[in-house]
Amino acid sequence: MKVLVTGGLGYIGSHTCVELLQNNYEVVVIDNLSNSEVSVITRIETITHKKIIFYNGDLSNKSDIQQVFQQNEIDAVLHFAASKSVNESLKKPLKYYKNNISNMINLLEAMMEFNAKKFIFSSSAAVYGSTAQQPISELATTKAMNPYGETKVIGEDLLNDLYASDSEWSIVVLRYFNPIGAHESGLIGEHPNGTPNNLMPLITQVASKKRSLLYVFGNDYNTIDGTGVRDYIHVVDLAKGHVSAVQKLFSTHGLHTYNLGTGEGYSVLEIINTFEKVNNVNIHYEIVDRRAGDPAVCFANPAKAKEELDWSAERTLEDMCRDSWRWEKNLENRILTNKN
Ligand code: NAD
Ligand code: UFG
Repeated sequence: MKVLVTGGLGYIGSHTCVELLQNNYEVVVIDNLSNSEVSVITRIETITHKKIIFYNGDLSNKSDIQQVFQQNEIDAVLHFAASKSVNESLKKPLKYYKNNISNMINLLEAMMEFNAKKFIFSSSAAVYGSTAQQPISELATTKAMNPYGETKVIGEDLLNDLYASDSEWSIVVLRYFNPIGAHESGLIGEHPNGTPNNLMPLITQVASKKRSLLYVFGNDYNTIDGTGVRDYIHVVDLAKGHVSAVQKLFSTHGLHTYNLGTGEGYSVLEIINTFEKVNNVNIHYEIVDRRAGDPAVCFANPAKAKEELDWSAERTLEDMCRDSWRWEKNLENRILTNKN
C-alpha cells in the first residue's frame, strides 16, 4: 500500500511517517518546508531503516500535486499540511483560509481526478469551542473560537458534503487534543518557528534557559488547582492512531470522526511539576492573567476510537515530559554543533 502524507516532515506528520513505515506502508511525502526541515527525511530513515519518496512541493500549486499522483499510485492520503497557530490566524485570517481550505480543495480535486478516494483529515479539538460538556464526545456541537478553528470546522463540513455527493469516498476525520512529546530516539520532535504559543515547547525552552520565565495564564479557573486543564497526548500515540485510521479506511466506506485524546485532563501546574520531577530541572514560572479565549477545561471522551479503531493512548504524562526534554536537549546540541 502506498500512502501520501502531506506535511509529512512536520511535527505530527514525521512521527506518523515513522509508524506507517514500521507497519510496511510505502510512504510518499509532499511538504513545502514552510514549517519543517529537509533533514527530517534522514532522521525518519535512520529510525526506520526505510526510505520515503519526497516531493518538495506546495499544495497551492496544482501541478506539484498532479506530479505526485502521476508518478505514484496512491492508495490513501493523510492530510497534515496546514497552518496551525491560533494566534497567527487572528492576525492573518486569509493565510489560514487559503492554506487550510483552498489548498485542501486542490488536493481533493487531484484525488478525484486520479480516483484516489481515501482520506484522513487532521482536525482539532479546536472545533468544539468553549461550552462543550466534559469529557467531550464526537457528538458535541462544533463552534470554533478563532479563524484557525473555523478552518477545521469548514474542512470537516466540506468533507461531509463531498461524501454526501459521492459515497465512493472513505474518510476519517481525527480531532486531536493536545499533542506533546517526541520520538524516544530523540531524532524527531516539534521544532516551532519563532516564539511558541503552546505550553510544552515553552516549558522546554525555560528548562534549557532559552527563555527565563514561563507565564501561567490564570490560576482562578474552577479546576483542581485553578490552572487550565487539557488532554495532553504523546505524539507517538497520536501517530499510531493514524495507522489504525488507515486500516479503517481500507476496511469500510463512509465518513467517520474520532477524538484522539487520552481521556484524562492535567492542569498547567501538574504538567510543570511532573516535568520538573522526571527531568530533575527547575521551571521558573509566574502566574499572570487568563489568556483570552482559553476554556478552563478540555478533555476527550476517546471511547469511540477505542471501540471502532481498537486504538487508545498508552504513554503516560511522565513519558511525554521525559521525551519532550530529550528532544529539546538534542535540538540544542544540533544547533550548537551546527549539524542536522
Ligand atoms: P507542522 O507545522 O509541524 O506540520 C505541517 C507541515 O506541513 C510542515 O512541515 C509544513 O512545512 C507543511 N505545509 C504547510 N503548508 C503546506 C503547503 N501549502 N504545502 C505543502 N506543505 C505544507 O504542524 P503539526 O503540529 O504537525 O500539525 C499537523 C496537522 O495537525 C495540522 O493540520 C494541524 O492543524 C493539525 N493539528 C495540530 C495540533 C497541534 O497541536 N500540533 C493540534 C490539532 C490539530
Ligand atoms: N498555557 C500557559 N502558558 C503559556 C501557554 C499555555 O499557562 O505560555 C496554558 C493555557 O492557558 C492552557 C494550557 O496551557 O491552559 C495549554 O495551552 P496550549 O496553548 O498549549 O494549548 P491549547 O489547549 O490552548 O490549544 C491547543 C492547540 C490548538 C488546538 C487546541 C485543541 O494550540 O491549535 O489545543 O486541540 F486547537
